[in-house]
Amino acid sequence: MNSTNTSASFSLGDWNVKRLGYGAMQLAGPGVFGPPKNHSAAVAVLREAVELGVNHIDTADFYGPHITNRIIRDALWPYRDDLVVVTKVGARRGPEGSWMPAFAREELTQAVHDNLRHLGRETIEVVNLRCMFNVHHPADGSIEAPLTVLAELQQKGLVRHIGLSNVTPTQVEEGQRICQIACVQNHYNLVNRADDSLIDKLAQQNVAFVPFFPLGGFTPLQSSTLSDVAKRLEATPMQVALAWLLQRSPNILLIPGTSSLKHLRENQAAGDLQLTANDLGELDSIA
Ligand SMILES: NC(=O)c1ccc[n+]([C@@H]2O[C@H](COP(=O)([O-])OP(=O)(O)OC[C@H]3O[C@@H](n4cnc5c(N)ncnc54)[C@H](OP(=O)(O)O)[C@@H]3O)[C@@H](O)[C@H]2O)c1
Repeated sequence: MNSTNTSASFSLGDWNVKRLGYGAMQLAGPGVFGPPKNHSAAVAVLREAVELGVNHIDTADFYGPHITNRIIRDALWPYRDDLVVVTKVGARRGPEGSWMPAFAREELTQAVHDNLRHLGRETIEVVNLRCMFNVHHPADGSIEAPLTVLAELQQKGLVRHIGLSNVTPTQVEEGQRICQIACVQNHYNLVNRADDSLIDKLAQQNVAFVPFFPLGGFTPLQSSTLSDVAKRLEATPMQVALAWLLQRSPNILLIPGTSSLKHLRENQAAGDLQLTANDLGELDSIA
């Protein structure tokens, strides 16, 4: 692998976190519903992530529900001082695993308390308001009421920082008028580049952008160009996809998800992959 470490850190609230973090969603059962087949294997992935230097883990109490947070607690409590766990509120699961909005004051308050209890923390470092005007993509709608509830919970000391997820640029602006926004977490990767200008704007403001589905999520990225570049660099396509994100903008923090130790190690090694201008040109053509 052509190796130069491009993976520095970036600010997330009060902390400087490594740009290569870890997303815990894959640790729940199939469809992010119910427990994993192998609890010990899930614990091992989290412990290895932290040993490899990860200090930013993304989760939600609606993964499972309640499953992923409990696994994080089993694996990592007592937590290292430098570990930032970011969660989300605003959604809940139906009895058959569907994803539903949970934006009422009582639901948001309950969700913050559930996260605190299941993670075993007194304060959550960052809580993202996960917007559900459309479950799959950002859609218009005011976030004033739910964000005001989160800001009140922040004033009570239960939440240290607030972020937004699945939001439009207009909702980011609305949010920034209500409280400080530490990060924005939206669907973005080599193929899905709808947020290009939002990322650049947040970079100017020194606000972290955290792409979810960095590897394509439930539909892994597939492209002959990506495979060709990876082959040339003696890397895997997924490593190249992560390296592209790291080079796309300094405010991008990565949270690739995996339930596999092998994939975890490969993903963390992507921080050592340097893409040339020529590689970037080819990869940019995929979108
Ligand atoms: N805010 C939101 O609405 C939202 C939505 C979705 C996700 N998220 C967060 O974003 C994180 C990342 O998203 P994600 O996990 O859904 O998708 P992802 O990171 O794009 O991709 C995960 C998928 O890629 C596979 N994979 C991971 N590393 C690989 C590798 N090196 N080689 C081959 N396959 C690999 C995983 O399977 P294996 O388990 O077999 O490795 C899994 O199927 C989540 O964990 C979650 O914390 C947030």
